[in-house]
Amino acid sequence: ASSLSVNDLEEAIILLFYGYSKQIFINNEWHDSTSGKKFTVYNPATGDKICEVEEGDKEDVDKAVKAARKAFQLGSPWRTMDASERGRLLYKLADLIERDRLLLATMESIDGGKLFSTAYNMDLGGCLRTLRYCAGWADKVQGRTIPMDGNFFTFTRLEPIGVCGQIIPWNFPLVMFVWKIAPALCCGNTVVIKPAEETPLTAIYMGSLIKEAGFPPGVVNIVPGFGSTAGAAISHHMDIDKVSFTGSTQVGKLIKEAAGKSNLKRVTLELGGKSPNIIFADADLDSAVAFAHNGLFYHQGQCCIASSRIFVEEPIYEEFVRRSVEQAKKIVLGDPLSSCVNQGPQINKAQFHKILDLIESGKKEGAKLECGGGPWGDKGYFIQPTVFSNVTDGMRIAKEEIFGPVQQIMKFKTVDEVIERANNTHYGLAAAVFTKDLDKALTFATALQAGTVWVNCYSAVSAQCPFGGFKMSGNGRELGEYGIHEYTEVKTVTIKIPQKNS
Ligand code: NAI
Ligand code: MG
Repeated sequence: ASSLSVNDLEEAIILLFYGYSKQIFINNEWHDSTSGKKFTVYNPATGDKICEVEEGDKEDVDKAVKAARKAFQLGSPWRTMDASERGRLLYKLADLIERDRLLLATMESIDGGKLFSTAYNMDLGGCLRTLRYCAGWADKVQGRTIPMDGNFFTFTRLEPIGVCGQIIPWNFPLVMFVWKIAPALCCGNTVVIKPAEETPLTAIYMGSLIKEAGFPPGVVNIVPGFGSTAGAAISHHMDIDKVSFTGSTQVGKLIKEAAGKSNLKRVTLELGGKSPNIIFADADLDSAVAFAHNGLFYHQGQCCIASSRIFVEEPIYEEFVRRSVEQAKKIVLGDPLSSCVNQGPQINKAQFHKILDLIESGKKEGAKLECGGGPWGDKGYFIQPTVFSNVTDGMRIAKEEIFGPVQQIMKFKTVDEVIERANNTHYGLAAAVFTKDLDKALTFATALQAGTVWVNCYSAVSAQCPFGGFKMSGNGRELGEYGIHEYTEVKTVTIKIPQKNS
């Protein structure tokens, strides 16, 4: 409640930041950038500078790849380590994160404008669960013996791919860091990871925890820097075996192109979305309104799975809009460190302007602005919670990923119509349907073109369940057993034998 204590806390934490390295992490050591360049990290809630960070570029990526390659050599400590021991190191890392949870959550909040409570509970909680899930898999990734034709004995090995380049975005800095490194390390790969230029602080801090946990030098290397320099150096690198990327569809295309132009490294992508959420008149309305609201406004709308196309059946349309507007108007904006606030700032000026531009397009193209519709406050990148009704499919706000607190509510009449409209997009990350009719629910579970379909819920993501996109929302899956397998190569070993018996 008292803004004074929030400011004090913020200041204390910023001072604390200065005690930690803000360098490039290679071979379990801290390095300055080869070029001597640094970049500035800002607090999006205030626009104030937090600190400067060493800026990695191609030369630093090369150094990191050399370290990762050396750590991956046959006979190295990492390659000869028991799989169960890799699991133990991941458990240890989780315990260290848990020990430093308060600090990490605070850094995440100041660096990325994320509500402290969200960072502490959801992000840090998710990191711990994902690390421990992958830790448990380490000694359970196994091949098969296969009854092949002829006098042969055949088995498969699921081997680590090698050096994995990993490029992550700013909306879930620590969660994405863990989603990338945990399955890669569980399978025995080595890693060169680049955090987003907007939010490098928790990733850098993770370097100190990785070292403390006891991972051998070179297994994880962390290179903060920009996309078109350090990021491009990773995607074009001739000695990186796989790249895993989360971010925009536009950059996802560049990553695949770079793989094609260099060494055809394996590529997995988790890109954007324009996820449909379909609400039938028979649904529990309170629950549907709440899930639709949180599914969109969570973390300022900066979620790849945001339910940004809400289709509501005609008989309940007006009532659904009324209740959604009521919810949106209750949102309190302000300092993300304050416990009474439930919406913080957008990440940066570019995103702020992109969102405001899309809001203007909605107004111009004839959607009905129910609430919000502009910036908020006199500092930082805040945007009023915005709801549009009478949205039609051709409008920009119905087609483009907004990545902001802007809710689009459309009307539908029939099942066939809404299936076609829901699927009429290049994206396919997530979708949801709210109904009490089991037949309808299962029809939609089959018909919707999305990597995840939720029934009577939204945003339910968990380490055990594969996550990823159909169509232009991505390639491959993260999490779950499928996600683990994305970090392995299958090797078939066939041995000639004198005679086989059934
Ligand atoms: P972005 O795709 O440019 O950035 C994500 C990561 O990619 C960052 O680490 C960045 O440094 C890196 N990157 C950028 N250009 C690169 C290149 N040429 N080669 C290699 N790496 C590169 O996303 P940005 O600009 O931050 O946001 C633009 C839009 O992307 C957002 O408005 C949103 O629609 C979408 N987005 C989706 C995310 C998701 O969770 N799927 C996360 C962030 C953004
Ligand atoms: Mg970009």
